[in-house]
Amino acid sequence: MERLFNPRGVAVIGASTNPGKIGYRIVENMVKSGYTGRIYPINPKGGEILGWPVYGGLADVAGDVDVAVLSVPADHVMKAVSDCGQKGVGHLVVVSSGFSEIGNLAGERDLVAAAQAHGMRVLGPNIFGIYSAASRLDATFGPGGILPGHVAIVTQSGALGIAMIGKTAAESLGLSALISVGNKSDIDEADLLAYLADDPSTRVVLLYIEGVKNGERLVRTLRQVTQRKHVVVIKSGRSARGAMAAASHTGSLAGADDVFDDVMRQCGVLRAESVQEAFNWVRFLASAPLPVGEDAVIVTNGGGIGVLATDACEKFGVRLYDNQPVLASAFAEVMPEFGSSKNPVDLTGQATGQDYARSLDAVLARPDMHAAVALYCETALFDTRQFADLLRSVYRRYQTTKPIVLALFGGERIEAMIRELRSEGIPVFGDVYEAISVLGALYRSWRRLNEDEGEPEEPPAIDVEAVQGVLRRAGAGGRKFLLAHEAAEVAAALGLRMPRSIVARDLDQAVRAAETIGYPVVMKVVSKDIVHKSDAGGVALDLANRSEVVDAYQAILRSCLAHKPDAVIEGVEVVEMVRAGVETIVGARQDPSFGPVAMFGLGGIYVEVMKDVSFRAAPLTGRVAREMIGSIRSYPLLLGVRGERRKDIGAAADVVLRLGRLIAECREITDIEVNPLVVYDYGEGVKAVDVRILFEVQGGDAA
Ligand code: COA
Repeated sequence: MERLFNPRGVAVIGASTNPGKIGYRIVENMVKSGYTGRIYPINPKGGEILGWPVYGGLADVAGDVDVAVLSVPADHVMKAVSDCGQKGVGHLVVVSSGFSEIGNLAGERDLVAAAQAHGMRVLGPNIFGIYSAASRLDATFGPGGILPGHVAIVTQSGALGIAMIGKTAAESLGLSALISVGNKSDIDEADLLAYLADDPSTRVVLLYIEGVKNGERLVRTLRQVTQRKHVVVIKSGRSARGAMAAASHTGSLAGADDVFDDVMRQCGVLRAESVQEAFNWVRFLASAPLPVGEDAVIVTNGGGIGVLATDACEKFGVRLYDNQPVLASAFAEVMPEFGSSKNPVDLTGQATGQDYARSLDAVLARPDMHAAVALYCETALFDTRQFADLLRSVYRRYQTTKPIVLALFGGERIEAMIRELRSEGIPVFGDVYEAISVLGALYRSWRRLNEDEGEPEEPPAIDVEAVQGVLRRAGAGGRKFLLAHEAAEVAAALGLRMPRSIVARDLDQAVRAAETIGYPVVMKVVSKDIVHKSDAGGVALDLANRSEVVDAYQAILRSCLAHKPDAVIEGVEVVEMVRAGVETIVGARQDPSFGPVAMFGLGGIYVEVMKDVSFRAAPLTGRVAREMIGSIRSYPLLLGVRGERRKDIGAAADVVLRLGRLIAECREITDIEVNPLVVYDYGEGVKAVDVRILFEVQGGDAA
């Protein structure tokens, strides 16, 4: 990758003397950006572009060509690839459209195969090019004028990526790199992230993703990169639901976007809602120092705006400093009698610019106050020019030691002041939510940077071979789902506790079974001819003693035969009656983007109506499984509400871990779901009432 970002020479195949063509614009941008290597425009017509001689073919070039930008129509690409192979080019940047994005999969496969046969890597096709600050190379057909800086952008969208070039320039946002990945035929986000993680000038990576191709690798790479750098993602398609058939809850709930959202959180990636939010975040993350602690202080001259900021802090995960005696003494000198030193520190409407500056100084000089938020509502007591100078000087004094954000509200003078301070790189906003949102992004990313992944854990003991044996036997006849007794075998191999069950062939056996299991029991008819047992009167619940079992046995037989007179009844299944507890669902499946993922949610209406579930890429660690359970909205129900005891969350997390390991190791299983998993009080464990499994024996890696 080093040669892609720091090439000694770049050839532009399809360079044109016609300024209306992409091949001209790319050469022009390379020249104007001051690229430090050699530029080799290639076009059989020869000539000159902006002072650089045009070569008739790559064979005429004597110097090293590390990168070739291909800007010729798709049907000329293969010839150009072959020329590049002969020349010993390292990387192809294929601008040309006309490949997989229009269904030309074969053309794209051939392109990559031909490149790989010569040891070349392919960026694209269907891209606008690449910018690298390290070699001042702008090999794009964007508007030019990219400022060097510390943000690397990797974008799948071409048009939006090109537009971002103009926007970064307008917002004075400096870039270390900008890479268009287009069809991702070879080089993808994971390759680029691995390089950018080591690139000293990149502090923040911004990813624009439309679809994930090799999600498992992306997850592994992101988890490593977010321990070293800030990563922000924008993904389109928030509303799109997964296209997979709703064969299970896990399947129907695993809308592509929900899985993406949760997996990005698991990776420590910050997901922005909009391009503007992403820009605000990356700009701040690229310039702000990392905090040394969680406690922020808000200084304001308005109570209302202070409350808004407090709400925003809760939403964006910013903790507020709360030592009241210290706050009172820290602001004693600047605080008017009717002000409030509680955080938000309210200097009231009579505060002057000086009061602000002294208060901010008081916050920023203290080692136990870790970040400052300054809010200001325009009043007549301020000279905006003088105020701008005061804010500027406080900011400059502390900008390398503490995170500081400002939000100012008012008329045209305030708007002008915001523009002026922003153009100097000071994080000032016209909206309190925007200001707190950038601080929250910094805190979330900082927590991830500090997160201790801990020692590698011993995976839960599950018997994968036994599971595969069950699948092989069940799949021999072409079946793709497991019957109840097969699913019970899998549950045993997973180490899950299921209700005890015994099949009885006659009344005597039924009574003995009930006594072995212990009352109360459930009884269900066993007959291949009766599919919907309850409808046929084939199920009896909560049988408390011998005589109830006798009565129920006879009633089941009678009503099943009345329902279907020719049914062959093999007997009844006597099952332990499961005690009530909190009903949850644990699932795992092969996700089309991320491969093996696990799901957890509360059962009943929580899952049906509220879709209150969380996903994580598998396999998981114990910490991730617990954090996943803690992230659902109805988590307080597991903690125990209204005097109820805390539930056995650890035992539920253990089931999530086991399913996560199975789905990662046993790719034949497409869906597995424990529904319900009844969770009892702390220390009393869980019980898997029903386990359903779908599989594809021949499919191998279903991801
Ligand atoms: N080697 C060198 N030059 C070659 C060549 C070859 N093998 N084959 C053709 N050329 C020359 C052409 O003669 C032409 O030069 P000219 O202007 O002097 O006549 C130049 O290369 C470009 O070829 P041309 O046929 O004029 O194509 P074009 O410039 O109109 O379009 C693309 C080429 C790649 C821009 C176009 O095919 C395309 O894919 N456009 C979409 C790009 C896009 O949107 N990408 C995604 C962005 S996100």
